Amino acid sequence: MTVAEAWNGPLGQHWAAHPDRYNAMLDGFDEALFDAASVSAGEQVADIGCGSGLTTRGAALRAAAGRVTGVDISEPLLARARELTPGERFPHVTYRLADAQTCAFEPGGYDLVISRGGVMFFADPVAAFTNLAGALRPGGRLAFICPQPARPDGEERKALGLLASLLGRDHTTEHAVATAMASLSEPERIHEVLGAAGFTGIGVTGVSAATCWGKDAADAVGFFVSRTPGLAVSDATRAAMTDALLPHESPRGVLLRAGVWVVTAHTP
Ligand SMILES: C[S@@+](CC[C@H](N)C(=O)[O-])C[C@H]1O[C@@H](n2cnc3c(N)ncnc32)[C@H](O)[C@@H]1O
Repeated sequence: MTVAEAWNGPLGQHWAAHPDRYNAMLDGFDEALFDAASVSAGEQVADIGCGSGLTTRGAALRAAAGRVTGVDISEPLLARARELTPGERFPHVTYRLADAQTCAFEPGGYDLVISRGGVMFFADPVAAFTNLAGALRPGGRLAFICPQPARPDGEERKALGLLASLLGRDHTTEHAVATAMASLSEPERIHEVLGAAGFTGIGVTGVSAATCWGKDAADAVGFFVSRTPGLAVSDATRAAMTDALLPHESPRGVLLRAGVWVVTAHTP
């Protein structure tokens, strides 16, 4: 299955069915993303790989007198984004079903391109970021977050690895997606790709935050298992998985720390 098929198939459908769950995993990074993006009221903003649109709406609240376009390759996620973005409140938001690597943007039509984890999946990253650079006006800004390398001793990696091994599976994400997810995990690679695409002033800063997987351990296990459609799990396995997450329970839910890069750059 290709990346585009996965985001239009079971993976995209799961994200579309559970926007609050996925936002709870990722919204610990939003402050860092929006600090880096520094959106102003009248700006034209593109949110690449916008998914169900939480950051599109976040940008739209900041660019109240501007215009925000959410771009995504996933039909189910864009349908969800449209549902969650009422026109009366967000008349200046539009969503566009497109591959950001190849779609035709109005040249220089944007002041700012942002992304919360939606720019790692391109078949040709240099071509894709060149396309995004072309969408920005001279001096336009790019600000995105992408995952840091999954350290074997990292809290999220360790806990999810343990759950996957109790399930007897290597991973629960499509192989092509898991590989693509890590495509920008090395800062040298980020510099190489963005530099080749014509960006300058490239900055890469590490940020860590708690990702929330559920209200308690049993709830988090239920969600984790639901990511693989049709998977039958015995009560004993489910109990062992729940035990594995108990140390991560907190009054704010099951929290696993993870790290991202906050990447900024601009066009010349
Ligand atoms: C990890 S999800 C993040 C979604 C959203 N930014 C969020 O934070 O909830 C990655 C998103 O990138 C989208 N995507 C993957 N490849 C893409 C491409 N070539 N062009 C546009 N969107 C893409 C996927 O469909 C998915 O919605």
